[in-house]
Amino acid sequence: MKTTIDQVAKYVGEEVTIGAWLANKRSSGKIAFLQLRDGTGFFQGVVVKAAVSEEVFQLAKSVTQESSLYVTGTVAEDTRSPFGYELQVTNIEVIHEAIDYPITPKEHGTEFLMDHRHLWLRSKKQHAIMKIRNEIIRSTYEFFNENGYTKIDPPILTGSSAEGTTELFHTQYFDEEAYLSQSGQLYMEAAAMAFGKVFSFGPTFRAEKSKTRRHLIEFWMIEPEMAFMDHEESLQVQEQYVSHVVQSVLKNCKLELNTLERDVEKLEKIQAPFPRISYDDAVTLLKEQGFDDIEWGEDFGAPHETAIAESFDKPVFITNYPAEIKAFYMKPDPNRPEVVLCADLIAPEGYGEVIGGSQRIDDLALMEQRYQEHNLTGEAYQWYLELRKYGSVPHSGFGLGLERTVAWIAGVDHVRETIPFPRLLNRLYP
Ligand code: 4AD
Ligand code: MG
Repeated sequence: MKTTIDQVAKYVGEEVTIGAWLANKRSSGKIAFLQLRDGTGFFQGVVVKAAVSEEVFQLAKSVTQESSLYVTGTVAEDTRSPFGYELQVTNIEVIHEAIDYPITPKEHGTEFLMDHRHLWLRSKKQHAIMKIRNEIIRSTYEFFNENGYTKIDPPILTGSSAEGTTELFHTQYFDEEAYLSQSGQLYMEAAAMAFGKVFSFGPTFRAEKSKTRRHLIEFWMIEPEMAFMDHEESLQVQEQYVSHVVQSVLKNCKLELNTLERDVEKLEKIQAPFPRISYDDAVTLLKEQGFDDIEWGEDFGAPHETAIAESFDKPVFITNYPAEIKAFYMKPDPNRPEVVLCADLIAPEGYGEVIGGSQRIDDLALMEQRYQEHNLTGEAYQWYLELRKYGSVPHSGFGLGLERTVAWIAGVDHVRETIPFPRLLNRLYP
């Protein structure tokens, strides 16, 4: 019976054949332990000298790391491994022999591993991170589909900027200038006026020259946008969505979290509602904690966010930032126009901002004024202004960065390991 590692529990006591690669091996005179992987999982094949032909045992001892194989054997329970099963090998057939696989079981530097990202993805840790990423994607679709949202895909090539002009990738679009999208938000606002509740999920591009463990040049963003929802209602969507994703990973990625040695007790606490702190109170809190450098009106940096997050064991919303330091489309607080109806969601444990969201300006005159103030004029913006001309409604939305969310949930230090092929300031290869 040909099967895969994730299915072996069904075949205890039976003989199966698995197409696999040799991740690692250990052997002595009488026994060889083959660490097998097939993409669906990792488990051990045990080759006992006395139980197989001399030829098979010699093969088990000599087969090289990352060679591809068909391995046949009897599935047995193995209470010592977290996976719970192993294969008592009866036969090995080599499909292709790998020679001098560069990533050996010894330690390698990060730059070396990043240069070999196309191979590094095969390792157990990277496999676990990508499986968690996949579960976050799956449960994201599940959440929004079950809550009445329509997925709408905004364009990637755009004629205008969504978040500010300094971070754009320019490209030639026949005889026009175009940009790679930094956010689909403006298009999602149009979509919300057509479909009510919408979400997008796609790649976005930032040409900012940031070299931190939280910044990628190309990253994936989930951007829901909701007509007839104010900012408070949007915060409730956010906390329910994030809780759903974390609980789904806890339920469906037990082995992967175990491989990564993630402290799951910290994740178990992630249940809506989440605490909220105003920007004003956050400034006060920081001053109390000895951050003398921060003044009202300044944006928070990573150390500030981490310090604020440390006061809570759930993600925390920092709300109502000064209008000055936020995007032009955010709606001013009617009682206090110097701040806007917005929030950043800061993950616990120092993983930083995972969501930026706000209620949007729905008044045409105010939006036109903001455009003037930001020197954003011209034809490229006409369509966005028209959304405020024909049946404008209160509406809110947010953007969740996939890679920062993976980093937090999987407990990975740097976002470069949370996307299959990271685009970084100094890296476009492989
Ligand atoms: O806060 P940002 O810039 O918000 C927007 O783009 C809004 N238009 C979203 C919206 O309201 N529809 O980005 C949203 C999130 C951040 O909180 C962060 O998680 C992630 O996107 N992000 C990045 N992730 C990796 N690398 C970068 N360079 C990122 N920039 C933002
Ligand atoms: Mg932001």
